Amino acid sequence: MALEGRATVAAVPAHASVAIRRAKAEDTRVVVRVYIDSWNGGFGHLLGRRVVDDALVGRWERDLVAPPPSHWWVAERGGAIVGVAGVGASRDPMDPALGELDTLHVAPDSFRTGVGRALMEVALGQLNRDGYAEAVLWTVNHYPRGQRFYEAMGWRRDGRTRDDGRQLMYRHPLG
Ligand SMILES: CC(C)(COP(=O)(O)OP(=O)(O)OC[C@H]1O[C@@H](n2cnc3c(N)ncnc32)[C@H](O)[C@@H]1OP(=O)(O)O)[C@@H](O)C(=O)NCCC(=O)NCCS
Repeated sequence: MALEGRATVAAVPAHASVAIRRAKAEDTRVVVRVYIDSWNGGFGHLLGRRVVDDALVGRWERDLVAPPPSHWWVAERGGAIVGVAGVGASRDPMDPALGELDTLHVAPDSFRTGVGRALMEVALGQLNRDGYAEAVLWTVNHYPRGQRFYEAMGWRRDGRTRDDGRQLMYRHPLG
């Protein structure tokens, strides 16, 4: 799927309620836009700004419809997609007892309006139902927005790092 131009991510009132639903293949175009805007607006200054390219679009096309144990959702407000999240089995470390929060991104216009919290509730609920003992995630070091969000959602630092210290592991109890 080629992306031509900029998909429109509509500005929506922050007070409108958030609805979470399963992602569909046809969400790809808007999800990629949300992801790139969220990356750049959130931690582009730390990891480098990104642009949309075919490889990225291809990855999202596959991810959004990946079968269990992967699960992907979008957050909608006023009918517009304002966030995306995905969970699955832990890949690093590979351990069947561990689920992973793979990705959670909110459109910058919607930062700090409860979208991340709504996606997190659904993601943790799924990881619980899937029977993992614990959940892990990797996030960006020296990144207060992400770290405070995860800590507010009950995640705790594990002490492990990767990518020369640029990424930190967090854990969340399940069950
Ligand atoms: C990090 C991110 C997912 C948080 O989502 P969000 O929708 O903005 O967060 P919420 O509004 O649901 O916040 C829930 C709670 O997290 C904490 N929190 C969120 N953002 C915060 C910030 N910038 N500073 C301090 N605490 C914050 C607060 O406790 C907040 O509750 P409150 O607003 O009632 O005080 C979002 O900012 C984002 O997508 N950032 C860019 C991409 C990213 O960082 N992804 C995750 C790390 S890889």
